Amino acid sequence: MPRSNPNDFGDVPQGCSIPLNFARSSHERNYSIQIGRGILRTIGSEIASRNISRVVIIADEAVALSHSLTCEKSFLDAGVETSVIRVPSGEQSKSIQQAEQLWIALASLNVDRRTAIIAVGGGVVGDLAGFVAATFSRGLTVWQVPTTLVAQVDSAVGGKTGINLPCGKNLVGAFWQPSGVIVDIHALDTLPSREYGSGLAEVVKYGMILDPTFFSWLESHCNKIRLRDPDAVEHIVSTCCRLKVHVVEQDEREETGLRVILNYGHTFAHAIETASGYGVLLHGEAVSIGMVMAARLAERLGMIDADICSRQEFLLTSFDLPVTSAAFDPDILLDIMARDKKSVAGRLRFVLPECIGKVRLVDSIDHNIVKEVLTASSR
Ligand SMILES: NC(=O)c1ccc[n+]([C@@H]2O[C@H](COP(=O)([O-])OP(=O)(O)OC[C@H]3O[C@@H](n4cnc5c(N)ncnc54)[C@H](O)[C@@H]3O)[C@@H](O)[C@H]2O)c1
Ligand SMILES: [Zn+2]
Repeated sequence: MPRSNPNDFGDVPQGCSIPLNFARSSHERNYSIQIGRGILRTIGSEIASRNISRVVIIADEAVALSHSLTCEKSFLDAGVETSVIRVPSGEQSKSIQQAEQLWIALASLNVDRRTAIIAVGGGVVGDLAGFVAATFSRGLTVWQVPTTLVAQVDSAVGGKTGINLPCGKNLVGAFWQPSGVIVDIHALDTLPSREYGSGLAEVVKYGMILDPTFFSWLESHCNKIRLRDPDAVEHIVSTCCRLKVHVVEQDEREETGLRVILNYGHTFAHAIETASGYGVLLHGEAVSIGMVMAARLAERLGMIDADICSRQEFLLTSFDLPVTSAAFDPDILLDIMARDKKSVAGRLRFVLPECIGKVRLVDSIDHNIVKEVLTASSR
């Protein structure tokens, strides 16, 4: 298990490369996550050295004139033929209509086997462009270039791609590992603070599920993290990527049950997101509330002491994240949770903490206990 030192910024404060190896798969599907500052300026030479003759950048329109443009210039400087397709910002772009537009655009560009897709944006563009790469021409090479904290610590790593259907999120998708992930910490400089905070919820999640030392480090570096101190941000991103790599290497396709721990707080969060209407809360904000509920449920079941709940809540509050939900009818939330694709035959399953740094999947919890927790955690 990767460790982080609570007193400093770990062993990789100035850029690093984290290898990802899938033991059961072919050599070609091993790749690395490169983390650094200003590394989008050299993305062209990096990718041109991999037998790629041409790239199609699929970019969130919010980064079209900044980070996407930096990538485009770098590819042109490296002599790589480059096309750019802009995608409207927001979750609604993870749609079959947007995917179809991209498929048609790729067809009109006559892309071939030596063409790579470069996904520049947050989780929306990463999931969408990854899915389009997985499906066009039976699979194109894709590089993930995450520009939100959520994408840098979570969605760009692990190979899950997909789009939404009107009846549910992420219902159509594919596991499609990228050929590489290029994480430029400087890309976060333009990110609005609410989006940055949303990413911090997932960061706290990694400490809670896997790494107590990292959790303590977050507690002791709150101010630097809030102020986006570059060393602190780089330490956060590299630690979370290492932790996620550790999980997905062992359970690439969510088959052994290990990868499910990444859903800590998410069963509650998805229900709250659905009940509030998409777009009211950012995903990370719902995850923050969901983790508070999960910890309280664990406390109610006698799995943890109250001080663990308090430490988690205090840390989330320090990052200006919400810890209570609007008052919803608990029966409605329960109903949504029972229909969650992670529940089995309507039985509620939750990933719950046993201590800071360790969680486990708990099955068949009494609905009345869950209701009590839902009521106690709403305002
Ligand atoms: N594949 C996975 O494993 C996985 C994991 C977690 C989340 N996700 C998915 O990720 C999505 C959420 O990702 P997200 O939080 O990154 O949302 P997002 O992609 O919508 O980005 C959030 C907002 O930030 C803007 N933005 C992006 N980069 C910017 C930058 N550098 N500067 C300024 N603005 C910028 C976007 O235009 C958008 O408005 C969801 O669809 C979720 O399902 C996938
Ligand atoms: Zn999440």
